[in-house]
Amino acid sequence: MRYFKLLFLVLSTSSLFAQSIDISKGWKFKIGDQKEWSKSNFYDKSWDTIQTSMYWEAQGFADYDGYAWYRLHVFLPSSLINNSLWKDSLEIKLGWIDDWSETYLNGVSLGIVDHYRTNVKYKLSVNNSIIKWNKENVIAIRVLDRKRKGGMYFGPYTISMCDITDYVSFNLLDIPLKFNGDSLIGEVKIYNNSPLIDIKGTLKIHALDIRSKQTLSTIEVPILLNKNENKIFKYALKNYATYWYITVSFTPNGTANSINYQVEAPYILTPKVSDSVKINTPAVFGAHSGHPFLYKIPATGKTPLTYNANNLPKGLSLNAETGIITGKVSDTGNYSVELIVKNNLNSKSQKFNIVIGDKLSLTPPLGWASWNAWGKRRVSDDVIRKTSDAMVHSGLINYGYSFINIDDGWEGIRDSDSILQSNEKFPDMKALSDYIHSLGLKAGIYSSPGPRTCGNLVASYKNEMIDARTYAEWGIDYLKYDLCSYVGIEDVSTLEGMQKPYRLMRRCLDSVERDIVYAMCQYGMLKPWEWGAEIGTNLWRTTSDIDDTWYSLTNIGFIQDPYAEYAKAGHWNDPDMLVVGTLGYGFSSTMHYTQLTPSEQYTHITLWSLLAAPLLISCDLMQIDDFTFSLLANSEMIEVNQDALAKQAKLIKRTAEYDIWAKPLFDGSYAVGIFNKTENLSEIHFDFALLNLSDKQWIRDIWRQKTLGLFNSSYNVEVPRHGAAFIKLIAYNKK
Ligand code: GLA
Repeated sequence: MRYFKLLFLVLSTSSLFAQSIDISKGWKFKIGDQKEWSKSNFYDKSWDTIQTSMYWEAQGFADYDGYAWYRLHVFLPSSLINNSLWKDSLEIKLGWIDDWSETYLNGVSLGIVDHYRTNVKYKLSVNNSIIKWNKENVIAIRVLDRKRKGGMYFGPYTISMCDITDYVSFNLLDIPLKFNGDSLIGEVKIYNNSPLIDIKGTLKIHALDIRSKQTLSTIEVPILLNKNENKIFKYALKNYATYWYITVSFTPNGTANSINYQVEAPYILTPKVSDSVKINTPAVFGAHSGHPFLYKIPATGKTPLTYNANNLPKGLSLNAETGIITGKVSDTGNYSVELIVKNNLNSKSQKFNIVIGDKLSLTPPLGWASWNAWGKRRVSDDVIRKTSDAMVHSGLINYGYSFINIDDGWEGIRDSDSILQSNEKFPDMKALSDYIHSLGLKAGIYSSPGPRTCGNLVASYKNEMIDARTYAEWGIDYLKYDLCSYVGIEDVSTLEGMQKPYRLMRRCLDSVERDIVYAMCQYGMLKPWEWGAEIGTNLWRTTSDIDDTWYSLTNIGFIQDPYAEYAKAGHWNDPDMLVVGTLGYGFSSTMHYTQLTPSEQYTHITLWSLLAAPLLISCDLMQIDDFTFSLLANSEMIEVNQDALAKQAKLIKRTAEYDIWAKPLFDGSYAVGIFNKTENLSEIHFDFALLNLSDKQWIRDIWRQKTLGLFNSSYNVEVPRHGAAFIKLIAYNKK
């Protein structure tokens, strides 16, 4: 009976809707934990003020893990009830509270949420005696941050009366928009969370070109959601732009309130790969004499491709069908090789300098690492094999991606000879790396100089030599050596203490007959860029772990300028793995599509390319979508990253609104990234004088692989919110 009444009310009333109180501002904050901080009469005026738009680490409480409290005084007018359609419940929305929270209203606990990255909200009956109508109320939140980001962020923060729309929710974020041929396919999952009422309404999908402000398409469908029902609505959009937003809204019949979600839609700039042959190898490749050599020539074009090479050094041979070069070279030296790749349309040749000596990683490593997608528990032999297959079948291997790095999670126990065994998820490491090699790819592994890895598994402390030998026997090509529990072993606040375990593993790796790229990971402590090369590491992490947020991306990516001068062939700054595609168990408890918008992803890859950073894809490669693929498989983006001059981009102009970074290239030209840090599409002016260039310049758009024309002294470009323009400047007379 009640249900019919409610439904009738909803259907017959049109313009009344709930008022809402904004509670995003005015919060007080204190670290620590005291019971009386929950009380409404507690004196909190002397506490710090805090914003709810950022976690506390970004607001002067860097690295603080533990308990802290948020408090807010808020007046609740009874007009809220009068103005609402339904007069029975109030909802308090508190955004995300990481990692754990207990919320009190006027000293009474409303509940606990022990899950991070989830919307914390409480519904209360208007008659609940905890609420003080027409008086000040105090919301107090006890928060526990166990690791990394802590506190309130990512709203909404409101107190409002419940409305029919409160029972409807969408799931958009976990379902990425994917390209299928020339259409963009989207999916909306829409839920009716009410056990009491059926909800009828209109679902509207609206696509807007942000540059022209033109509507690209609109779809409207009537939808009936039965009690507790969810429905999936699929749509395909054919007209899309290079910077566009999709708004999904649902308006229940009989209410003016609607719920809206807006997402930036993906746009592919990389052109479709051509059928004619293109060789994507860097100009140089380093290997040690007398060690097993493996190199797969990366090339695109209509298959089958046939591979050939002139002047290969003695000891190497090339498989003409697979393009894989193997063997051993005993004599050191620089070998200028000519690579030739053919298909039935054309033939291309390219110089390839094989440097046999004592250097590896003459260009930044390209490949994949398991951590950001699979974490410690889910990485397995099966995942690694399928990822290796996907690297080949997706075609990414043809752009030079070669490493398949197993991060933390493979380690078992030491046997009676102290030899570390892999765990049950990795039955045979040698067979696994043989498989990886058979595809022309390389195998990476992970350990720590301490007794335990960051994931608390067995690590190399006191067994360094044994481990290096084991890696060599297994056929490992890359070692990430992560400080973790070594912190308790030696005083790592001194340079000597910090360097000691890395020097030790260097000696161990030098004594085995295998080329193993050595990646130091100690999160940038004691400026590793200043001494990483000297102690023989090929790359070193410059910061703590990345995650897939704009905050993390910019706070890691845009601080790399002071380290630029230390990057050189064989020794690179590592701003951490890529956070595009489907990510998960490394830093989040669920598998999800990257939270970065498409434009933010352009910023990510543009910046990492310019920084000569290792490009270690770290998503679930088995389900890579066309957009993510287009970001990673752009041969001109890779060329900038792999350029033989081996310079890292420098920041040449910074304002509050934009950054311009430039990387000098081997051929005398420059690659330039123009980054829009604002919330709106903006026109950015780039003056060539910033690079002391007075000549006219040809400008080539790297993402679109298109020469835009000759420009006199500057270039103006419209850049999307948080997006990037990526160009190459070629002197007038050099084209
Ligand atoms: C540290 C590293 C990560 C990852 C994990 C594995 O946090 O910085 O990149 O390797 O350890 O436990």
